[in-house]
Amino acid sequence: MTSGPDPLRRLAPVVRLAPAKLNLTLAVVGRRPDGFHDLHSVMVTLALADRLSVAVAPSAPTDMLHRTGFDAGPIEDDIALRAVALTRAAVPRPPFGADPTPSLALRLEKRIPVAAGLGGGSSDAAAALDGALEAWAVALPATERAALAARLGSDVPFFLAGGVALVEGRGERVAPLPWLRTGTAPGVLLVTPPVAIATPAVFAAYAAGHRVAGGTARLASTHLAEELRGGLGARELLARASVLAAANDLAAAAAVIEPALVPFRRGLRRVLGRPVAQSGSGPTHWALYASLEEAESAGAAVRAASRAGTLLVPGGGEPFVAATTIVTPTPETGTREEGSAR
Ligand code: C5P
Repeated sequence: MTSGPDPLRRLAPVVRLAPAKLNLTLAVVGRRPDGFHDLHSVMVTLALADRLSVAVAPSAPTDMLHRTGFDAGPIEDDIALRAVALTRAAVPRPPFGADPTPSLALRLEKRIPVAAGLGGGSSDAAAALDGALEAWAVALPATERAALAARLGSDVPFFLAGGVALVEGRGERVAPLPWLRTGTAPGVLLVTPPVAIATPAVFAAYAAGHRVAGGTARLASTHLAEELRGGLGARELLARASVLAAANDLAAAAAVIEPALVPFRRGLRRVLGRPVAQSGSGPTHWALYASLEEAESAGAAVRAASRAGTLLVPGGGEPFVAATTIVTPTPETGTREEGSAR
């Protein structure tokens, strides 16, 4: 449904922050007939974010993308451009009059490491879908937006909503969860070794049997979702760090693709003196802290250990180390702190 051109909106670019995600838990609960896996995952968005600006460029023959920061491969294959093309195709065209979906000029600052288990590309896709509609001053029903998101990738529907959610199915079932009832936003330390890990390879290793039996990730994931619904506090979440660290069903499969992740995880645990978890299909690992400041000083310790050679990092180079916070909706308004997707 078009709402008609809005000349004021079209003058200034639309700006979206496209946040990274963490899987606090990630349980694989089955294989689907379409070859994908059914998941049960508690996901949160982080303050660490890519930045996307979207401006209409009616005289340009095609959409354009200018990208800085982390290298995400060929520009023409970028998922943000695919998101714009798919969204354009879904916008109804009036029989007469101007095209409601003129070419767009996108600028994308990639601050989230690529192929790192942080969902950067999927988040860019959700931001591009949303940003394109706003730049065109066009609205699509929420169900249609969600269907487009699911076609772009399994994590994209989560990013359309953002915040904290229980994600199920292939990723298309997203149920918002209440965030911590008490306490300040936990700090998160992210450490990403300089090796890209392709998600399909990790799922293929999982399907080939590289997994830990026992269903502990499923139990931990179900339990965390229930506890959040029951009003979990920040201190209680921190107290569950070791349970969360063991609640990723893709960790064993990622270690088949990149065996150096096993000693790296052990080394990181030793440097930080606390549980360390893998996000998504890896290679990013994370640890929870009571505050951003605590996560920052832990980051300094990781950098020092990596430079001193006492922490062996897969890929050989310096890891990406970032202290950030979990960004969540405020219960009263549903809006989010700075650093969120909208
Ligand atoms: O949907 P997306 O492109 O992110 O998925 C990448 C790959 O990861 C898929 O091709 C599939 O092999 C695997 N995958 C899966 N089950 C999921 C999500 C992804 O098997 N729920």
